[in-house]
Amino acid sequence: MYCVKKMTEDLYWVGGNDRRLALFENVYPIPEGVSYNSYLLLDEKTVLLDTADKAVSALFLENIAHVLAGRPLDYVVVQHMEPDHCATLEELLLRHPETKIVCSAKALAMIGNFFTFDAASRAMVVGEGDTLPTGRHTLSFLMAPMVHWPEVMVSYDAETKALFSADAFGTFGALGGSLYADETRVDFSEVRRYYTNIVGKYGTQVQTLLQKAAGLDIRMICPLHGPVWRKDIPGLMEKYARWAAYEPEQTAVVVAYASVYGDTENAANVLASKLDELGVHDVRLYDVSATHPSYILSECFRASHLVFLSTTYNAGMFVNMENLVHDIVNHNLQNRTIALVENGSWAPTAAGLMRAEFSKLKNMKILDETVTIRSSLKQDQLPELNALAEAIAASMPKPAPIEHTTPVEPNAMFSFSYGLFILTARDGAKDNGCIINTAIQLTDKPKRISIAVNKANFTHDMIKKTGQFNISMLSTDAPFAMFRHYGFQSGRDTDKFADVQGMARATNGIYYIPYCTNAFVSGKVVQTVEFETHTLFIAEVTEARVLSRLPSMTYAHYFANVKPKPAPAAAKKTGWVCRICGWIYEGETLPPDIVCPICKHGAADFEKLK
Ligand code: FEO
Repeated sequence: MYCVKKMTEDLYWVGGNDRRLALFENVYPIPEGVSYNSYLLLDEKTVLLDTADKAVSALFLENIAHVLAGRPLDYVVVQHMEPDHCATLEELLLRHPETKIVCSAKALAMIGNFFTFDAASRAMVVGEGDTLPTGRHTLSFLMAPMVHWPEVMVSYDAETKALFSADAFGTFGALGGSLYADETRVDFSEVRRYYTNIVGKYGTQVQTLLQKAAGLDIRMICPLHGPVWRKDIPGLMEKYARWAAYEPEQTAVVVAYASVYGDTENAANVLASKLDELGVHDVRLYDVSATHPSYILSECFRASHLVFLSTTYNAGMFVNMENLVHDIVNHNLQNRTIALVENGSWAPTAAGLMRAEFSKLKNMKILDETVTIRSSLKQDQLPELNALAEAIAASMPKPAPIEHTTPVEPNAMFSFSYGLFILTARDGAKDNGCIINTAIQLTDKPKRISIAVNKANFTHDMIKKTGQFNISMLSTDAPFAMFRHYGFQSGRDTDKFADVQGMARATNGIYYIPYCTNAFVSGKVVQTVEFETHTLFIAEVTEARVLSRLPSMTYAHYFANVKPKPAPAAAKKTGWVCRICGWIYEGETLPPDIVCPICKHGAADFEKLK
């Protein structure tokens, strides 16, 4: 019996779940199973995005037949040629001789490696930026080599604003009844374990894909494994950016130990206890013989400090520790502080061998305070172990001391907990909108609100003239593209609503933004207060509607999760970065009268590039 999920008017999930497989790629334990996602678009042309693993082939083919309901399958887009997504390709094409294969040149070559049928005669090879119009939809293809194989590409549909992301943004774990991450329980440690083990080695390539994705308005991410992401996409992107840059997620310690008779384990526990006494409480211990290395590798991507304790075995590292260390090196982990402890009854060598391996990685600080245990930890070695714990604690980042320089410190203003809003106005037939962070409720009875608007903004002039406006309150799922669209260009030069779909008008006739927002309020100006740069509009509330239950976007959330981080190359420049929009002024000294050409903020909103 078919089992499909209708996602939109014409998009279906037609994949399958596997809860019998013990080891994904015959390596990684998947106690919660795995899903093989495939998506079928029923436009004027029909398009299947990837096939599925042979484990679910019967159901997968039945799903396709059910959704197509007799229609031909015009295209199959092969984003990734790993067999968990292409094993059923030949069977699909036998059933659908009419189908054209859309894929990268490398994927076409790989089809020839895996199969013997004639793919070239029915292939449509696409490259970066190529498109496939299907009627209402147009798929754009972005090459994503090494995320996770060299032939990988992802597809973007501007109509649904869906990114079909291949292996990226996937996770272990079969799907329950719901397809969506926001409707089900997602174990985020499994999202990390999937990322680190499957594509963790290819951080540079993932960063390239993230930079491409930052230019898209993405409302839905459809990966090849795990749930579809609709909410807090910026938060997911931020995690990926951090993992791809090999930056720790948390200041924390992961202790991995290899112990044959329990003595090295004892040293690990004593060390962890000492760390706790020193105020380092986020410490997790793993026995490398009890925990699969894929879990420990994932933890090493999470934590800033890593401790490895290994007994010496066959004149080398203990076999399971050797496996873990090689796994970490092979996955290219960087930017960590590492501490080492070895045990050896007659010829300890493990620490030197571990040090040699970790020295192959970039920006690894290996502490000098290595401890050598002879069979079991003794009282007279406690000072050495304590010194190691103290070195770990000392290497942890401390909050920078606060220096008071002036009675009015500009940075104190950033402690205000601003929200972020799209302010819209209408003058005659002209609509416009901009981003503001200065809307507040003044009184409840009568309902009064205020907004402070920069006089340089076109919206300011429209409100001054018409006395009316709407405020759409952005929620945490708002992508950076919305800020760029409404905040980084002027309505004097462009019609910001020319190509925007799905807008709605409030009773006052002015647009409000019905998505990525949780409420809108209409205001009728009753008083204005003029300042040098801004006008304060005080207004009565004429309409107010709740649009969703998502939390409001705050200034802090925007900077932490939405605003793209400067690219590594840009970060190496000497200069100043605008904290509002990320524009970079190159030069040692920031001109005091500088105005950001993108968002019009002044010198107080710039900070030195680190
Ligand atoms: Fe899910 Fe790289 O295959």
